[in-house]
Amino acid sequence: MAKATHPFLAACRREESSYTPVWLMRQAGRYMEEYRKLRAEHDFLELCKNSDLAAEITITPVERLAVDAAILFADILLVLEPMGIGLEYAKNGGPVIHHPVRSGKDVDALKEFNPKEELVFVYETVKKSSKALKTKVPLIGFAGAPFTLASYLIEGGGSRNYVHTKKFFYSAPEAWKRLMERLTEVVTDYLNCQIAAGADAVQLFDSWAGCLTPMDYENFVLPYSKAVIDGITPGTPVIHFSTGTAGLLQQVRAAGGDVIGLDWRVNLDEAWKTVGHDIAVQGNLDPVALFASPKEIKTRAAEILRRAEGRVGHIFNLGHGVLPETPVDHVIALVDAVHELSSR
Ligand code: CP3
Repeated sequence: MAKATHPFLAACRREESSYTPVWLMRQAGRYMEEYRKLRAEHDFLELCKNSDLAAEITITPVERLAVDAAILFADILLVLEPMGIGLEYAKNGGPVIHHPVRSGKDVDALKEFNPKEELVFVYETVKKSSKALKTKVPLIGFAGAPFTLASYLIEGGGSRNYVHTKKFFYSAPEAWKRLMERLTEVVTDYLNCQIAAGADAVQLFDSWAGCLTPMDYENFVLPYSKAVIDGITPGTPVIHFSTGTAGLLQQVRAAGGDVIGLDWRVNLDEAWKTVGHDIAVQGNLDPVALFASPKEIKTRAAEILRRAEGRVGHIFNLGHGVLPETPVDHVIALVDAVHELSSR
């Protein structure tokens, strides 16, 4: 099958396909033995920067799980490292930024860099993965959206209430604008470099946008996400992902994308109606549902497919990433169930 007619790209473009395509976030990760083995020998950043190993990690789940797309093995925070903020992945915790951005002065002190010249290891991974996948399945490149990246920069890591981030845009809107403009430019260039290297589609992760009020999203976030999406090389589908955004779906759609990500806190049919049937959607199984029995997983997959009503433009996915303790055979059972139930 030529990549251009693959069900994954057909769904992005709202074209007919022979079944509903499925791929997963954190498709590669600690729930997989193959990954844990490599991870025991290498630090996470080391894996990301070794394009041979990163390409291997990108491809393994495609073979093991029979998913319909590969997602580049990298991380949304890699793009922040050249800014000189001291990125580290702590042993048993999330990512840490040792020099968080808390003022306009800190924004101006961020190192300038050219994404075309730095982060070359990511483009090498794209090239090697794309070559190894041949025409089997499309390759998804990705980046963090400006807001989610800014929230990591400002908080210094994950956060519960995003107090520092919100305080920043309330109290220093000019510095916020400068920061978001910098991130917008970097992310757009970075994604276009991935496309030039062979990514067939790109996903913009705005994982933490759900913490915002609709008005704050419109004023402080939407213009920048929109600028990134508008700046993507024409012809490449963009998946716009977020979580906790049931109350923001119209605004997320207004920012753009060919496919809107839906988490599990909404019913797929209602959310699809909200964003409009003239756009594709991705989702929306609860990642924790993969801890239920394969029979229950199939029932829940069927329920989501029922709500999609066989409409063109549905990509089956989790509302968020695969969790580290997830049984691999349950993941395989999900992929098989979606293929079987949606076969036309
Ligand atoms: O999906 C894939 O398989 C592709 C690779 C990928 C990773 N991170 C690898 C990773 C992708 C697409 C991401 C995206 C990412 N990274 C997001 C957006 C999606 C989402 O989950 O909301 C975010 C917010 C991050 C930041 C990040 N990186 C966090 C919060 C963590 C810690 C949580 C965790 O799962 O450990 C990471 C580390 C990370 N990124 C791991 C992997 C496989 C685990 C690292 C390890 O092996 O210790």
